[in-house]
Amino acid sequence: MRVLVTGGAGFIGSALVRYLVLEKGYEVLNVDKLTYAGTLTSLKSVEGNPLYRFLKDDICDGRAISEAFASFRPDRVMHLAAESHVDRSITGARDFVETNVLGTFTMLESARAYWQSLPLEEKDGFRFLHVSTDEVYGSLGDEGLFEEVTPYDPSSPYSASKAASDHLAKAWERTYGLPVVVSNCSNNYGPFHFPEKLIPLMIISALEGRPLPVYGNGANIRDWLFVEDHARALDIIVERGRIGETYNVGGRNERRNIDVVKRICALMDELHPAGKPHESFISYVQDRPGHDARYAIDATKLETELGWKARENFDTGIEKTVRWYLENEWWWAPLRKNYDGTRLGLV
Ligand code: NAD
Ligand code: DAU
Repeated sequence: MRVLVTGGAGFIGSALVRYLVLEKGYEVLNVDKLTYAGTLTSLKSVEGNPLYRFLKDDICDGRAISEAFASFRPDRVMHLAAESHVDRSITGARDFVETNVLGTFTMLESARAYWQSLPLEEKDGFRFLHVSTDEVYGSLGDEGLFEEVTPYDPSSPYSASKAASDHLAKAWERTYGLPVVVSNCSNNYGPFHFPEKLIPLMIISALEGRPLPVYGNGANIRDWLFVEDHARALDIIVERGRIGETYNVGGRNERRNIDVVKRICALMDELHPAGKPHESFISYVQDRPGHDARYAIDATKLETELGWKARENFDTGIEKTVRWYLENEWWWAPLRKNYDGTRLGLV
């Protein structure tokens, strides 16, 4: 099995590449531009493995992507490359439109030309998995869950660009017959998560004795999924998901942000005492504009139709994650040093 993964140097992409190469024994070509969010240090465990190849390229570059298709001849594409941080999309949306919308368009067009050139027997087996987010559905009130049929209602430039890319992916299936499947997942967490996102930011800031910036009153709810559960789900969806369908992915782990931060503080008190309780570093800061109140995924379709189930619950997953950051400063310290956290509540 040959899988072309885009964005494999990012958080979820690197977990997926490790899973496909080390657990499944698939050949993987990782196409990644290595933006600020991508680092090959997340892929040390597959470096030198004959099943793994890396290509540094931009998914917006149609010629480079077509060449990658022609030379690698994938059976599957798993498209994860994206600009992924909501706060950055608010202060600079252009990269989000370019990569998430035009980049997805370029991937779909290159995939279509390649797929159309395949002999019939290979054509039938080809799949294009477009990896997306639950943020396309907008915000929930106190009740209800996002289902695959929930209408799109994105709030941020990030989620609007992902929504646009989902529509493109679906249109390429309906119009051209490209065998596309779409997945929409809730918030991931775990090892190799870039230090600007809530969970790694809180762990690292707590370790450094810096303020822990909680947006608004901290009552916003996210539905957390351990990243390795997501990687496994993506492999199942591309393998057995029905063409033209959407599958929601989530672990039924809803938490208020403030409760997540307090749990991290309690773990840090135990594992890395600071002299005073880490909770005393919590600092309520100005809210994110357009901040969605609550996300929660109904993963019934994926669970019943494809037999996937999340293995990690949040309490064990968050402890593993805190321990991982304490033991792997070599990975996050260079990333933290190199990016400007001034407008992200870091300093
Ligand atoms: P990430 O920001 O950690 O990684 C993105 C990767 O894409 C990086 O390696 C980056 O270098 C690469 N990239 C960016 N622009 C590129 C371009 N133009 N060409 C080639 N490579 C490019 O993102 P992530 O959190 O791993 O998310 C991966 C995908 O999953 C995204 O599509 C995201 O929308 C989706 N998603 C993320 C989450 C989450 O909680 N993180 C949840 C659901 C869905
Ligand atoms: O739901 C899936 C999405 O989850 C993915 O599509 C995105 O790519 C991913 O970044 C994530 O988006 P969020 O905006 O939910 O993640 P973030 O880590 O930025 O924020 C999580 C919550 O924590 C959110 O309610 C905002 C809040 N927050 C975030 C930061 C960085 C804070 O309170 N303080 C912070 O410093």
